[in-house]
Amino acid sequence: MQLGSGWYSFEVSVAVLTRTMMQRPGWLCVLFGTIFFSVCSGTYVPTSQAKVDGATIKYADKDFVGKQKFFFEILRHLHQPIAFDEYLPYTKRWIAEPSKYTNFTEVTEFFEAYEQGFLKQGQIFTIYNYWYAKQTLMVYRFFNNAIDWDTYYKNVIWARQNLNEGMFLFALTLSVLHRKDLQGIVLPAIYELYPHYFFDGDVFHDANNRRAMDGEYGFHANKRHNVAHSNYTATFSTQFYGEGSLSYFTDDVGLNAYYYYFMMDYAPLLGGDQLGLKNDRRGELYLFMHQQLLARYYLERSSNGLGPIQELTWESPIGTGYYPMLHYWNGVPFRARENNFLWRPYDPIKLSGLKAHEERIRQAIDLGYVVTRDGQQISLRQTEAIDVVGNLVSGNVDSVNVDYYKMIETTARMILAQGDYYGSPSEVWPGVLMHYETSMRDPAFYQFYQRLLGFYWDFKSFLPPYTAEQLKFAGVEIKSVSVEKLVTYFEPFDVDISNGLGFNNGAGRSTWNFSVYARKQRLNHKPFSYVLNIGSQYAGKGVVRMYMGPKMFHLSQLQYMKKFFVEMDQYVVDLVVGDNEIKRNTREFYYDIRDRTTYTELYMRIMKAYRSEERFVLDMSEAHCGWPDRLLLPKGHPNGFPMSFFFIVTPYYAPKLAQFSTFDATYTCGTGSGSKYIDALPFGFPFDREINFSSFATKNMIFTDVAVYHVDGNQTNESL
Ligand SMILES: *[C@@H]1O[C@H](CO)[C@@H](O)[C@H](O)[C@H]1NC(C)=O
Ligand SMILES: *[C@@H]1O[C@H](CO)[C@@H](O)[C@H](O)[C@H]1NC(C)=O
Ligand SMILES: *[C@@H]1O[C@H](CO)[C@@H](O)[C@H](O)[C@H]1NC(C)=O
Ligand SMILES: *[C@@H]1O[C@H](CO)[C@@H](O)[C@H](O)[C@H]1NC(C)=O
Ligand SMILES: *[C@@H]1O[C@H](CO)[C@@H](O)[C@H](O)[C@H]1NC(C)=O
Repeated sequence: MQLGSGWYSFEVSVAVLTRTMMQRPGWLCVLFGTIFFSVCSGTYVPTSQAKVDGATIKYADKDFVGKQKFFFEILRHLHQPIAFDEYLPYTKRWIAEPSKYTNFTEVTEFFEAYEQGFLKQGQIFTIYNYWYAKQTLMVYRFFNNAIDWDTYYKNVIWARQNLNEGMFLFALTLSVLHRKDLQGIVLPAIYELYPHYFFDGDVFHDANNRRAMDGEYGFHANKRHNVAHSNYTATFSTQFYGEGSLSYFTDDVGLNAYYYYFMMDYAPLLGGDQLGLKNDRRGELYLFMHQQLLARYYLERSSNGLGPIQELTWESPIGTGYYPMLHYWNGVPFRARENNFLWRPYDPIKLSGLKAHEERIRQAIDLGYVVTRDGQQISLRQTEAIDVVGNLVSGNVDSVNVDYYKMIETTARMILAQGDYYGSPSEVWPGVLMHYETSMRDPAFYQFYQRLLGFYWDFKSFLPPYTAEQLKFAGVEIKSVSVEKLVTYFEPFDVDISNGLGFNNGAGRSTWNFSVYARKQRLNHKPFSYVLNIGSQYAGKGVVRMYMGPKMFHLSQLQYMKKFFVEMDQYVVDLVVGDNEIKRNTREFYYDIRDRTTYTELYMRIMKAYRSEERFVLDMSEAHCGWPDRLLLPKGHPNGFPMSFFFIVTPYYAPKLAQFSTFDATYTCGTGSGSKYIDALPFGFPFDREINFSSFATKNMIFTDVAVYHVDGNQTNESL
């Protein structure tokens, strides 16, 4: 069941999203020198730019817009044949000339394996199956090896026609995210590309019924907004343990898309020197991102009156089951796990393997070193070694010894999802934990990561607490902070699910005029500002970090509560001597993104640019790599849910590579660039270590009590 070494690699990113505009076209060619030269010669460089409100705006050139158009068309109705005539000539053959590839050996390997049999079209794909993952990696390499766009797009067309749809989408997405000459390309949001992973089966059933009864259903021409309904959204799935009250959060399309993109940016099966994912402190990021998700989930639980997250144990029975209402495109329901689940006879064998592998990591942390594949020891008693631990735990390609420490995350998910007993393709029936798009719906996801994060806290417990010297900022003091009222509310949100419905292209009808929406209530908050007053005897750069966490009655509670602090914002300030008043609004938070433009709307814009009617703006406000701004605050209470905000301003500790120095932040997330981060402090600073209370509360930090008010429906407008 264990995957061989070297094929699986993992990277995690706290996407550093920024509205700071930088401009450095063509950096890749410089950075990657000759290896990528041929690829870079086709690299897109924006043709024009302008300044709007002082920020640089870049416009896509014709070549780039043409690529955008291609991806939007090739991904339309993925489970149906390609509907665009211009691509049909390339469906039968892939490009076979060795000179068209950077490494033809890999292409040959792919086709040899393909001849022997790949996952078939129409069958259920999951990346959590050994064979499918291997095949996906080969497809990814096949795409990535193409030396130019011409070879690339023709091969993509061939693959679209001949490979399994789920595998095709996975490999194509990886290649768009990681291929150097496709930086800045936007794909439609995953919940629109593959809505079956985000909406319950009854929604699609309703949509298909309505279409059968009304030929005009779904077309704008009928002058109606065409909504498909779900009558039972998530009511039975987790109600048994009261977890159902959180479904507005765990089913949220933005939340699940966030996790999916994170796992794709730092896909476990990718890594190595060439891709550079490890430049982004990938292992540390993996642990920190999951830790933050758990903290955020904890706050949502407590605002719903639910207790702490139970840590998963491998003892049967497992209390919380999960009954997804999701169905695959082919109508097969996702596999469920019943409440009080008992291991089946074949599970204990896999489990005892898993427990042994967990034990190896635990021992390494307690002994203070890991052993690499060639027998060398790496000390775990240094700050940076968290990166080594993170890679071990995720079992990615950059793990120092996947042969010995294995891939516990992958194995555990397979066992919990109960979808892959023997690893043989004919036996695969995945559950939600076997897809990045759906993992966060299952309460066991959080329980399992709570267990996995034991390694994180264990590692940190061996590092000395921060000293006052490390915490303080000489001459700088946060005097006060004031925060506006925090208000959350629910609002209806429509997601276009038409890409998941069958479409008949006949009768001159255009799929771009066809939109069916699934409506869901979702959490949002009113934008708010805060003001920090900082007194300084120092002029120069500082870095502000802002966190939210549970309300505390005494500082000593922080020893336990520090695990539940969520980072909300981080930015550089230029301090002057004297009083500094820093005002900031949630709209500026570095990590937060707005709603995505819909598939069809974006397509319309691309086509206008393609016909040179208007220019296509490259913009990061809807980037795939950020946290949905809507979910910044937990739901709260009608009469106020008490929380703490925490601010700390630290000296600027320069990172190895200055932020944005190796990528263009106006249109890419900088995955693998090594220059995403503002400074060099550990993620989660200063809550990541045990706290020494006799040196903790320095003057450059402040806690403040806040309350989150939840308002219902029509109250919203009055109180806003
Ligand atoms: C080509 O790929 C194969 C298989 O991944 C690898 O062993 C080989 O080193 C690669 N060759 C070059 C020149 O990168
Ligand atoms: C399902 O939902 C729709 C729209 O909300 C409603 O009109 C219909 O009556 C519901 N059906 C049932 C059986 O509750
Ligand atoms: C699609 O709708 C647009 C306007 O919304 C219209 O101009 C166009 O003719 C329609 N196309 C088709 C094929 O129905
Ligand atoms: C805690 O801080 C105090 C005061 O700086 C110091 O004397 C003590 O050694 C520290 N304890 C630990 C465990 O680091
Ligand atoms: C909100 O107000 C509108 C118009 O005033 C009304 O039609 C609707 O029923 C109200 N909804 C709720 C949930 O009170």
